[in-house]
Amino acid sequence: MAETLQNLHPELYKKDVEEARQGEAYAPFEGDPNAYSKKFYIESYGCQMNFSDSEIVASILHEEGFGATRNFEEADLVLLNTCSIREKAEQTVRNRLQTFRKQKEGNPGMLIGVLGCMAERLKAKFLEEEKLVDIVVGPDAYRSLPGLISEAEGGQKSVNVLLSREETYADIAPVRLDSNGVTAFVSIMRGCNNMCSFCVVPFTRGRERSRDAESIVHECEDLFSRGYREVTLLGQNVDSYYYSPSAGGGLEGAVTFAMLLEKVALISPLLRVRFSTSHPKDITDDVLHTMAKYHNICKYIHLPVQSGNTRILQLMNRTYTREWYLAKVKRIREIMPDCGLSTDVISGFCTETEEEHQDTLSVMELSRFDMAYMFSYSERPGTLAARRYEDDIPEEVKKRRLIEIINLQNSHSRESYTADIGKTFEVLIEGDSKRSDLHWYGRNSQNKVVVFPKDDRPLQKGDYATVQIKNATSATLMGEMVPA
Ligand code: SAH
Ligand code: SF4
Ligand code: F3S
Repeated sequence: MAETLQNLHPELYKKDVEEARQGEAYAPFEGDPNAYSKKFYIESYGCQMNFSDSEIVASILHEEGFGATRNFEEADLVLLNTCSIREKAEQTVRNRLQTFRKQKEGNPGMLIGVLGCMAERLKAKFLEEEKLVDIVVGPDAYRSLPGLISEAEGGQKSVNVLLSREETYADIAPVRLDSNGVTAFVSIMRGCNNMCSFCVVPFTRGRERSRDAESIVHECEDLFSRGYREVTLLGQNVDSYYYSPSAGGGLEGAVTFAMLLEKVALISPLLRVRFSTSHPKDITDDVLHTMAKYHNICKYIHLPVQSGNTRILQLMNRTYTREWYLAKVKRIREIMPDCGLSTDVISGFCTETEEEHQDTLSVMELSRFDMAYMFSYSERPGTLAARRYEDDIPEEVKKRRLIEIINLQNSHSRESYTADIGKTFEVLIEGDSKRSDLHWYGRNSQNKVVVFPKDDRPLQKGDYATVQIKNATSATLMGEMVPA
């Protein structure tokens, strides 16, 4: 039997498949489906920023008379919002295009557009490589979609992959896709100025820019008034959010991330605030104190470590050391002892030795993450690492190290979730549990999923319940509501 990932480690394989599928967002019809003359279908891959962008795209298309459909077979326009972060992410998109190819053979009028990071990375090359693609649009060019669609309708292939230093889509009200009506993502910035050597994002998303604070607060207020009870503020590096209304970026009226968090938290104590992602080099005490001050700012931080070894961190250009990272974790726990913590880890980065891999395991031991996203290194063309270092760790070694990381994290997750048995949490109800409509599904402040039986209380999604935990797996807490 071939040593595929699937038979070497079925758990990991399952995760891969889930990760690949994780992305799909389908837009429901908003309002009267007959109000729209044409239909579009959109699927999103990659990070939450991409999902958030798809909601901007849906809004632009609605204005153009396109209504959303969940069924690509009936779409006039099929869009894939793509991710380039790892090679596998790109392969998933190419496979998906094969499916659409068949559909297009039977319906030549159907247009296919590729959006997002892969569009930006490959640019017009996409049209050569994938002949069935009609439109290629980068993340900063979505306002030009109507024009590009008209060109494509006229039989011309069309591309716009210009990156911008200003575009934040601040004035576009996103159309919420596949929403539970309770939780929403709100983009607060775009792009990234860090140059982590493994990472393609600075090339696909361009320079970092922060969105007007007022437009962010306004969007969150609007969500709250429509019944939403949780917003997640999104950016590749939220701690470097900085918006200055005065020309030249002066201090007058300037808003930092800590100040923005406070503004959003003040909208209502019933509106939960989350954010992602924090960078260990930039997260400040100011942010931690603001989190501690407001009950409705969730006590949860996603703090990607990537590696536990200082030499590797240097090669990765993360600009912090192992000790700096551990000191940040300590600081978080000093200020908020009950704070949930998760991370991202990469195994097998260029030149990583066994000892250096052990350092990653030991940083995990010391930090005790509740959850982690774990990857093996995938070289991305054009990145600093691709240009400077040889991708010299054999695939089997990367995978074996990854499995060790995953096994260790699984045991830490199990410990963390089991330690919650007996504790009582405030849970925001997001809907029915997937397994049974006799149970509610929600999350606690620490971002852990909590499932608990309904009783005769007239609760609905968007309400808060007080739940005592009775049982746990390594990814779910099961509890019961405390008597009223
Ligand atoms: N802005 C976030 C991360 C965005 S990408 C941050 O700075 O933390 C999400 C995660 O994908 C990264 O944290 C990293 O762990 C992983 N990743 C990025 N590039 C990768 C690559 N080339 N190979 C493997 N994993 C990668
Ligand atoms: Fe990529 Fe680093 Fe920017 Fe995160 S901070 S998006 S890992 S370059
Ligand atoms: Fe992927 Fe682009 Fe996000 S590369 S992770 S979709 S910023």
